[in-house]
Amino acid sequence: MRWYSEVMVDTITLPGLIDPHVHLRDPGQTHKEDFYTGTVAALAGGYTTVVDMPNNSEPITTADRLEAKIASAQAKTVANIGFHFGTLGDNFGEFEKVIDKVIGLKIYMNVTTGGYKIDAYKLIEIYKAWPNQKPILLHAEDDVSDIVLKTLREVPTKTHICHVSSQAELEFVIRAKEAGLPISCGVTPHHLFLTDEDAKRLGPYGHMKPYLKKQKDVDFLWSHMDAIDIIESDHAPHTKAEKTGTTPPFGVPGLETTLPLMLTAQQEGKISHNKLLSLLYEKPKHLFNIPTDDTTRIEVSMEPYEIKDEDLHTKAGWSPFTGKQVIGKVRKVYIRDKLVFADNRVTIRPGEGNIIPAL
Ligand code: DOR
Ligand code: ZN
Repeated sequence: MRWYSEVMVDTITLPGLIDPHVHLRDPGQTHKEDFYTGTVAALAGGYTTVVDMPNNSEPITTADRLEAKIASAQAKTVANIGFHFGTLGDNFGEFEKVIDKVIGLKIYMNVTTGGYKIDAYKLIEIYKAWPNQKPILLHAEDDVSDIVLKTLREVPTKTHICHVSSQAELEFVIRAKEAGLPISCGVTPHHLFLTDEDAKRLGPYGHMKPYLKKQKDVDFLWSHMDAIDIIESDHAPHTKAEKTGTTPPFGVPGLETTLPLMLTAQQEGKISHNKLLSLLYEKPKHLFNIPTDDTTRIEVSMEPYEIKDEDLHTKAGWSPFTGKQVIGKVRKVYIRDKLVFADNRVTIRPGEGNIIPAL
């Protein structure tokens, strides 16, 4: 319990959350974010484990680049962090070298930040080459679902469809699950709480891939929550200057706003507490084999507040949800029973976080 104005509010304890989809920009674009600021933002948002995507300015498609990335994280992280490997379809010789160090393989089948889209015909060859004990994550929007289906039928490697955003995409996942294919999917908070109408209001700050969709798509996601496996923030920091420039890059920060948005939805009766826990902890843990323990936990005070740019820890310093009223402020974070975040500040030194052993 704590006092908020004149009212006593509850404090709840949750397991440290897991976000298997973030872009911390380190190495290469540390003016946007780095492993320190990104993992501070993670703790401030209630995440004790994040998994970083490979679309750095030099994509993480070789064992050497992966090692350099891990070294950078080792020096700076204050949370648990793991890594996905990348491919443009021409680095199969690297797969065996990295398989024990990564959580999964990320493939981009549509245009987005970094420009690492593969030619669709290469998908099957990549699936055949990837050691199938680790999952494949796909950025695969509606237009490529046929090829995904065909590939999965031929090579049934566990596959996670990232950031499903439309009715058509979720229907595709539902059909694939019904057909018994080893498929899961994630949805981002921006695709659950914003629409194409917000995109007009937000301008470049509402510009990301996949694009924001229509209200009917958002309604479909909410009414088919049982088919959604996880929430992934797709934390994609870019500076305000980049966003307001002539060609705004795709992406929005999300690590610090996801839990409060979901707790607010829970308070409004849109989602049960068990489903919230499943989306933000149990399913990500299970799908990506993330090691956890009972003493890694967060304390969240259920007080109302307004999301403000100046309160954020991400180097990007803005959120598409600025101005929104939410509940749920992360007060304390413990990793393996050690206090790592309290009173809005990190209580350990850069590098005291852990590289998560890839199981
Ligand atoms: O909006 C996005 N931003 N979508 C992606 O797929 C990539 C991300 C980024 O890296 O900025
Ligand atoms: Zn992403």
